[in-house]
Amino acid sequence: MPRHKSTLAKGAIALLATHAVHGQNTPTAGLPWVQSDYATSPPVYPSPNATGQGWETAFEQASGFVSQLTLEEKVRLVTGTAGPCVGNIGPVPRLGFNGLCLQDGPLAIREADYASVFPAGLTVAAAWDRNLAHARGQDMADEFVGKGAHVALGPVAGPLGRSGYGGRNWEGFSPDPWLTGELFAETIVGMEERGIQACAKHYIGNEQETQRNPSVNDDGQTIEAVSSNIDDRTMHEVYAWPFANAVKAGASSIMCSYNRVNGSYGCQNSKLLNGVLKDELGFQGYVVSDWGATHAGVAPILAGLDMDMPGGIAFTETEHSYFGGNLTAAVNNGSVPIGRVDDMARRIMTPYFRLGQNEASYPGVDPSSDGLNFFKPAQFLYNWTYNSQRDIDVRGDHANLIRELGAAGIVLLKNVDNALPLKAPKNIGIFGNDAGDLVNGQYSLSNLNLGDGNFDYGILAMGGGSGAGRLTYVVPPLDAIKERARQDGTLVQYVLNNSVTTQSGNLQPMYPAPEVCLVFLKTWATEGYDRESLLVDWNGTALATTVADNCTNTIVVTHSGGLNVLPFADHPNITAILAAHLGGQEAGNSIVDVLYGAVNPSGHLPYTIAKSEADYSFAALTNSSALLNTTDPNAWQSDFRERLLIDYRHFDHHGLPVQYEFGFGLSYTTFELSNISVSDPATSPIAPLPPSANSTSSGPNPPGGAPALWQTLYTVSARVTNTGARPGAAVPQLYLSLPQPANEDVTPARVLRGFEKVMLQPGESKVVTFPLMRRDLSYWDVERQQWVIGDGEVGVHAGFSSRDFRAEGAFRPLGGRG
Ligand SMILES: *[C@@H]1O[C@H](CO)[C@@H](O)[C@H](O)[C@H]1NC(C)=O
Ligand SMILES: *[C@@H]1O[C@H](CO)[C@@H](O)[C@H](O)[C@H]1NC(C)=O
Ligand SMILES: *[C@@H]1O[C@H](CO)[C@@H](O)[C@H](O)[C@H]1NC(C)=O
Ligand SMILES: *[C@@H]1O[C@H](CO)[C@@H](O)[C@H](O)[C@H]1NC(C)=O
Ligand SMILES: *[C@@H]1O[C@H](CO)[C@@H](O)[C@H](O)[C@H]1NC(C)=O
Ligand SMILES: *[C@@H]1O[C@H](CO)[C@@H](O)[C@H](O)[C@H]1NC(C)=O
Ligand SMILES: *[C@@H]1O[C@H](CO)[C@@H](O)[C@H](O)[C@H]1NC(C)=O
Ligand SMILES: *[C@@H]1O[C@H](CO)[C@@H](O)[C@H](O)[C@H]1NC(C)=O
Ligand SMILES: *[C@@H]1O[C@H](CO)[C@@H](O)[C@H](O)[C@H]1NC(C)=O
Ligand SMILES: *[C@@H]1O[C@H](CO)[C@@H](O)[C@H](O)[C@H]1NC(C)=O
Ligand SMILES: *[C@@H]1O[C@H](CO)[C@@H](O)[C@H](O)[C@H]1NC(C)=O
Ligand SMILES: *[C@@H]1O[C@H](CO)[C@@H](O)[C@H](O)[C@H]1NC(C)=O
Repeated sequence: MPRHKSTLAKGAIALLATHAVHGQNTPTAGLPWVQSDYATSPPVYPSPNATGQGWETAFEQASGFVSQLTLEEKVRLVTGTAGPCVGNIGPVPRLGFNGLCLQDGPLAIREADYASVFPAGLTVAAAWDRNLAHARGQDMADEFVGKGAHVALGPVAGPLGRSGYGGRNWEGFSPDPWLTGELFAETIVGMEERGIQACAKHYIGNEQETQRNPSVNDDGQTIEAVSSNIDDRTMHEVYAWPFANAVKAGASSIMCSYNRVNGSYGCQNSKLLNGVLKDELGFQGYVVSDWGATHAGVAPILAGLDMDMPGGIAFTETEHSYFGGNLTAAVNNGSVPIGRVDDMARRIMTPYFRLGQNEASYPGVDPSSDGLNFFKPAQFLYNWTYNSQRDIDVRGDHANLIRELGAAGIVLLKNVDNALPLKAPKNIGIFGNDAGDLVNGQYSLSNLNLGDGNFDYGILAMGGGSGAGRLTYVVPPLDAIKERARQDGTLVQYVLNNSVTTQSGNLQPMYPAPEVCLVFLKTWATEGYDRESLLVDWNGTALATTVADNCTNTIVVTHSGGLNVLPFADHPNITAILAAHLGGQEAGNSIVDVLYGAVNPSGHLPYTIAKSEADYSFAALTNSSALLNTTDPNAWQSDFRERLLIDYRHFDHHGLPVQYEFGFGLSYTTFELSNISVSDPATSPIAPLPPSANSTSSGPNPPGGAPALWQTLYTVSARVTNTGARPGAAVPQLYLSLPQPANEDVTPARVLRGFEKVMLQPGESKVVTFPLMRRDLSYWDVERQQWVIGDGEVGVHAGFSSRDFRAEGAFRPLGGRG
């Protein structure tokens, strides 16, 4: 592929020479890892009170409401109880408060009938489309509100996807924090515009499922949950980064995670809750525990936890909470100040008033939720206000967006000799257990057995666990292809049993031999378990190879709950590969739209596909049989030693070849990018630290942290042109090489700092702009505890993937020598 380079235009800042940076431009060794440094988390007390910044009116309403409550009622607001939803806050009928209904999850309202299953966060990330992310948030919100929920437990930016093996990566977006930050925020804004509270989760370091919770060994000894040991710079620049976007975007709540961080549980880590989230990021909403992630009463409350879930209805038969009656006692004996409980209650009630959930017109809970709730005890403590109707159909016309987004999230990885789009083939052969309909039920979370959806036969539309949805229907690829093929009179033959083909080693019983072979492969991933392999499941690698050995025009499609390595990618008979991710209920229609060219593919990889599984060793899971048998309560330590260098940052730092790089994706047309330029600075001169950093009188940070961090300092622009013959959407991407500060960890060679999705007709050009905020140009200075713009030159790389740059240059954000 030609890689044209052009120079940055001459700006007022500096005259810029072409400055291509490839491979290592940073030191090869990071700071030493001293294990004992990660043994404790610094105490940060007291817990900051919300001031309602940005939500002033609602905060006043919440304060007025809370001031009328007894201590018992305040405790009721902060403690989950049994009810119709997956999480419930009890009502206060004398004040007209009907309680709160919290519902899973990130791609659907799960405990609901007549609701849609949307494409997963992973698919949204692969679409690289802010508008679609936003629209999905809105449509999902309409369904939650229609069913009478107040809080949707999503979206997800933790796991971020440090390890490709992570069982829940698909619920979130991308291991790149910048890309995730953008899509996380768009989703939240879309959701809250339609009146549902977003709960951004899981904060933080929940990068593996294995030992995410404490366990009890055969001797009755508690073995603590895995501790994600993360240095301060990496926390800020990678894992907490998207949560800053979430807070800035107005997220109502944040869910703290099961795992420990530096030895301290996610829901009682004062540095992360009081310090980073509520003080530094100025979060004004409430922190809710993941279900069962509260391991004490007083300590988590003082550390910043505001709501305990599921609270007085636990996973066991005995109803108890560390909050509830225990909290009342703790206030009465002085171990929790009443001011802290008031703050918790105000934080919980502010979003409720802000989104108008107090209005009489707000729907009551659909009674059908009741029967779907597996946390349901024999009896509820409270009478719930239900909707007068049940089985409300909330799907609207959302299937249209689901189909569109499903197609937008399909990445065309290979397309030899224009194998795609299909051109009225005479004879199609379809292979693979992912092609047909489901045969064992449509729900991937039937009981607490989280592995339920891992069936041999049937389209994989989503992953498993609390992030799943209840399909009202699913369009399998086979059905959609049959319907489309009828238009061309195409013969459609199919073998859905992978073993029939892999064991026979031929394409029988198909006759005549297909002129195009479509192989549908799938890879399951679920909450509660990590993946054991990055290969496609169900002998899919062998199936792809066997078909290709016998068919010169083999097209492989994967539906997957995460990344796959594709050892068959370079097989000469494999003419096209499509990574279709998790498409939701319209998955079959979405793939047919792309296969037949009704939609020109525009997805790009939100992760790296390495040559081999071993290449991901930088972020291996913490797991071993020795750990599983340990008697040491602290044995599970997951050291994030790679620091900033996850995903493409690792491969670029070490100059490693990859199969398909981060950001890569083909189209049925071609694009060019040129005329790159950097604007003048927004103000001059640019100070290295945010201007507010030294001010003592500015008060607590507003949501998102120091406003200066969000100020655009420079704008990079470039011209993108469709140079091919078909309309299509390009995804121009901007990467920066930030300077390596002295005495700090390795700075990545390049980091993503901008993207756009632009629809272009053949021959059409558009100028795209990438605003660069102060935070985009800064590193987190551990010494100064500030975002700092490093002194030196910033390399600029614009193109269509993390390794396909069409225009490059450099500038000095702080000015000075050019
Ligand atoms: C974890 O420990 C590292 C090393 O001391 C430190 O940089 C970081 O701030 C700590 N983070 C938390 C949340 O305790
Ligand atoms: C208080 O917490 C303990 C567990 O530490 C639990 O056994 C008890 O039931 C709780 N009390 C209430 C009223 O929930
Ligand atoms: C106060 O009450 C809480 C909850 O019952 C209990 O955990 C704590 O130990 C008590 N503290 C004192 C000082 O009595
Ligand atoms: C929070 O407000 C309470 C009064 O409600 C006060 O006692 C407490 O000191 C405040 N905490 C902080 C950290 O300002
Ligand atoms: C629930 O409603 C019933 C019938 O109106 C009433 O007898 C009961 O006291 C109510 N329970 C609560 C906890 O309000
Ligand atoms: C997997 O494929 C191989 C051929 O590569 C075959 O020998 C084996 O039997 C297949 N396994 C199953 C379970 O079908
Ligand atoms: C799939 O094919 C294998 C190999 O021919 C066979 O043993 C197995 O019974 C088949 N499974 C089903 C469900 O037909
Ligand atoms: C490609 O397919 C043809 C037709 O079946 C076969 O003869 C050939 O061996 C295949 N090539 C490879 C490399 O497997
Ligand atoms: C099909 O592929 C197998 C290898 O998997 C090979 O042995 C066989 O000859 C091929 N058949 C044809 C018709 O190419
Ligand atoms: C963890 O290790 C055990 C024992 O080695 C193994 O059985 C299990 O499959 C592993 N889990 C994962 C997710 O790799
Ligand atoms: C772990 O325990 C199992 C059974 O309890 C045993 O079979 C296995 O050998 C043990 N593994 C190690 C590494 O001790
Ligand atoms: C902050 O204060 C220090 C020490 O007074 C000074 O050196 C630095 O320039 C100030 N930074 C800003 C951004 O005002």
